[in-house]
Amino acid sequence: MGKLSFWSFLREQGRDLPLPNESVHGKTVVIAGANVGLGLEASVHVANKKPSLLIATCRDTMKCRQTLEITRVLLVLCKRCSGTQPASLDSWPLELSSFDNVRSFVDRFDAEGPERLNILVANAGTFKPVYTRTQDDWEMMLQVNYLSMALLSILLLPLLLRSATCEDPSRLVLVSSLGHYLADPVLTRSRNWDNVLGAISAEKLGVSGASRYNLTKMLQVAFVRGLAARLPSPTPLVITAVDPGFCHSSLLRELEKYRLLRMVLAFVKWLLRARTSEMGSRNLVYAALATNAQDLHGKYMSSCEIVEECDYLLSAEGKAFSERLWWETIEVLAKVDNRVSQILSTYLQAR
Ligand SMILES: NC(=O)c1ccc[n+]([C@@H]2O[C@H](COP(=O)([O-])OP(=O)(O)OC[C@H]3O[C@@H](n4cnc5c(N)ncnc54)[C@H](OP(=O)(O)O)[C@@H]3O)[C@@H](O)[C@H]2O)c1
Repeated sequence: MGKLSFWSFLREQGRDLPLPNESVHGKTVVIAGANVGLGLEASVHVANKKPSLLIATCRDTMKCRQTLEITRVLLVLCKRCSGTQPASLDSWPLELSSFDNVRSFVDRFDAEGPERLNILVANAGTFKPVYTRTQDDWEMMLQVNYLSMALLSILLLPLLLRSATCEDPSRLVLVSSLGHYLADPVLTRSRNWDNVLGAISAEKLGVSGASRYNLTKMLQVAFVRGLAARLPSPTPLVITAVDPGFCHSSLLRELEKYRLLRMVLAFVKWLLRARTSEMGSRNLVYAALATNAQDLHGKYMSSCEIVEECDYLLSAEGKAFSERLWWETIEVLAKVDNRVSQILSTYLQAR
């Protein structure tokens, strides 16, 4: 917790973050959750660098159409951009509350997508103050923020690996949160759980929406570590968890529906020097493009720097928890899609 001191947090919030100069020429980039907030801003940054193809995903086709239009307008209007359109920009639907939808997205990529995928920014995420379950019968934030992101990452792993060399590795960026530092108290109970994912998904876990959200962000960091550790070193696929900082966005939309809460949150955002979505998005772009790729592998980043993840994950207990989580996640996802086991046995090293 010493890593999350209030004053260092405030200082970081006010810092101007760098934008990497690296080129994405000839590269294919996917940014998940790109219709608003950090994903939209990251898409504009990446599109402005003219990749061979940028696929910005949104939850449905209507949002995809709108996102394409908005991104093009922003590219022309925004001061930081050159004003010309990218080589190729597309938007595909991807709904993470459904495993079938994730599988369809990957099937579409295999059938009609480009032969290469160089960068996947798994940015989409949700915050649900009230306990909600998905059609696949998981708690909503657990499925959207963690399980579906893990499924997407694993199913696209062969393509990411095929598109890379160790000198020019592919990138997988999972957008986590500094909230993961606050998940320890719930996880210290995990030694009594028979099944980690089942316990976290259950309503009887009895914690607030914010605690559940923080937990899912902690699971992402553990997943990044687990996957990174199973890839060769040096690696053709660099995997990083990123904290964008506390930012203005629509993440808290379900709380901001209520006028009083909206006012309170606006005050809190002012007090905590919330970053603009554009400033926050620089963290994503940095992790996806910065040239010191091998140094970023398996790491957690905040304010465009590598920082230590929470003490729990670094402890012996946290490492044992991460290992249980890895195997449970694989067990769940292997039942969802039979490519999962085959991909893992073909591309990952045993530990
Ligand atoms: N803002 C912050 O202070 C902050 C801090 C730490 C981490 N983060 C993380 O940053 C990422 C981006 O969040 P943001 O702040 O930019 O929030 P946002 O403005 O609400 O954007 C979230 C994005 O995720 C998409 N999304 C939500 N549920 C989805 C689902 N079921 N399937 C597919 N896509 C879904 C949203 O699409 P719709 O608009 O269609 O719902 C939207 O494109 C999230 O992972 C969030 O947890 C944000």
